[in-house]
Amino acid sequence: RSTDTIRNFCIIAHVDHGKTTLSDRLLELTSTVELRNMKEQLLDSMDLERERGITIKSHPVSMIYQKDKEDYLFNLIDTPGHVDFSYEVSRSLAACEGALLLIDAAQGIEAQTVANAHLAVAQGLEVIPVINKVDLPSAEPERIMEQLEDVLAIPAEEAILASAKSGIGLPEIIRAVIDRVPSPRWLDEKGTRALVFDCIYDAFKGVICYVRVFSGELKQGSSISFMGSDVKTQIKEVGRFSPHMVAEDSLSGGKVGYIVTGIRDVADVKLGDTVTRMDDMAGEMLPGYKEVRPMVFSGIYPLDTSDYEKLKASVAKLRLNDAAFVYQSESSAALGFGFRCGFLGLLHMEIIQERLRREYDLDIISTYPSVIYRLRKTDGTEMEIDNPVFFPDASEIEWIEEPMIKATVHTPNDSIGDMLALISEKRGICQQTETIDTSRVMITARLPLNEILVDFNDRLKSLTHGYGSMDYEPDGYEQSDLVRMEILVNGEPIEAFSSIVHRQKAETRGRALCGKLKDLLPKQLFKVAIQAAVNGKFVARETLSAMRKDVTAKCYGGDISRKRKLLEKQKEGKKRMKQIGSVSIPQEAFVQVLRSS
Ligand code: GTP
Repeated sequence: RSTDTIRNFCIIAHVDHGKTTLSDRLLELTSTVELRNMKEQLLDSMDLERERGITIKSHPVSMIYQKDKEDYLFNLIDTPGHVDFSYEVSRSLAACEGALLLIDAAQGIEAQTVANAHLAVAQGLEVIPVINKVDLPSAEPERIMEQLEDVLAIPAEEAILASAKSGIGLPEIIRAVIDRVPSPRWLDEKGTRALVFDCIYDAFKGVICYVRVFSGELKQGSSISFMGSDVKTQIKEVGRFSPHMVAEDSLSGGKVGYIVTGIRDVADVKLGDTVTRMDDMAGEMLPGYKEVRPMVFSGIYPLDTSDYEKLKASVAKLRLNDAAFVYQSESSAALGFGFRCGFLGLLHMEIIQERLRREYDLDIISTYPSVIYRLRKTDGTEMEIDNPVFFPDASEIEWIEEPMIKATVHTPNDSIGDMLALISEKRGICQQTETIDTSRVMITARLPLNEILVDFNDRLKSLTHGYGSMDYEPDGYEQSDLVRMEILVNGEPIEAFSSIVHRQKAETRGRALCGKLKDLLPKQLFKVAIQAAVNGKFVARETLSAMRKDVTAKCYGGDISRKRKLLEKQKEGKKRMKQIGSVSIPQEAFVQVLRSS
């Protein structure tokens, strides 16, 4: 087949604007999968993805569409929908020539619509705007077309009005893919070049790379080299997705497919790397490659210490399919043995934690999330820390820098005031506000990454009544007045609760944490002080009064079985307690404090 009839494209959209529904519809129309086999299992195959309505992994699919007796090969590359995965999105886009930019006709342009559209343009893709869900009574396609022109500078007449649900506009979408998406580019460059845009781990085959071949050809048995990581291996199997993996003899320029290699560890394959053939070496890598580094760190511990081995096996398994997730073992006085884990962002962290709980049936505790701080000590050494435990003594620090982000927030007009207040509360600086249309604005702000880790998104959602959205990208480092805050219970510091905070926020946060702990800790036989300290100076204090009666006192010696029951209950409670010095802290307190602080 000539490459003139190949179209490589993707669908990009804000969460819930209908990407999965449209992909399914396209598969149906091209009879790629029989309806009854299709179900939801195909795209968005993970439970969690379905439930949270997010696409985590990219699933490419090849389909054949016939037009004017000509067979067109459509390669549809699905992209992850969340900001945490923006590097993965940009690598998936780099495998395409065009993108369908899907916008909900009732919701309009949201933060990720803009972010994704910019990524697509940066990759040189032809962007085809599709206004979806026009079947909804609340659809306002004209308003969305104005937004397109105002916010993205895309001419309104380029938009296709569609409903992935009812089928409106689908023939137009297919025609636009054929007519407007260019056929494969860079075919004639020297040497074989293929882009690795995703990889998965298969228990039998090992690491399987998803590739887009630009020039040359990948064949079964070819000796290949990953140019970025300089790993060399041989292709054991090569094939396409239709939609399941189907082996072929080779994959030539313009095509999308997979290669099975001898590599056993996903960590050895870097997303965005270029594969070349040893007997047809390319001179240069494909553009855009970079190593991704985790941005957010947190400790994960089993609630029940005897689950450690199970947790160890589970994180190892998760790691196999997710090269962006890193971990190493660590231990904490309060929580026992666990792992220090690194994630791309907060959502990525939540996904991993949730999968451990659900798929691996583990009760886990995670410590307060942290970013990577850079600091220089007075003795001239520079270091990076992602764990408050390693924070040096204040007297040894010359300067400390924290990672910043550039955030784009979309909000209804009537929430601007609240939104700006939230940004400033989070130590952010508003850089720009732009009107999207008569009812919405886009705020650009610079904030410390650390400040958006815990509740920023939830608060944004609640103060905009669900109508706001946010996207962010890293924006360098900046010096800041940061300190380590420790929480002490009965004079004993509890590592799991320590955190790195801005000096001005230490007191408020310390008070909140102490107050919370006071509510959560069971009374002890003696009075217990709960304190927050910065550099050995207390910034907050609560006192837990001593317990007066023992639990059986109410039983007046009469009912012996009831007495026993109470004692047993108390014993059970003890099991889930952590002994810190002379005070027992229930595990639940760890979970609660870390969840809400
Ligand atoms: P992510 O995977 O999170 O990016 O979501 P998505 O963009 O794949 O959205 P999905 O296809 O799951 O659709 C979200 C919701 O919108 C679902 O409840 C769909 O049934 C609904 N939906 C999708 N397309 C249409 C449409 O054309 N009309 C109507 N009325 N509803 C639609």
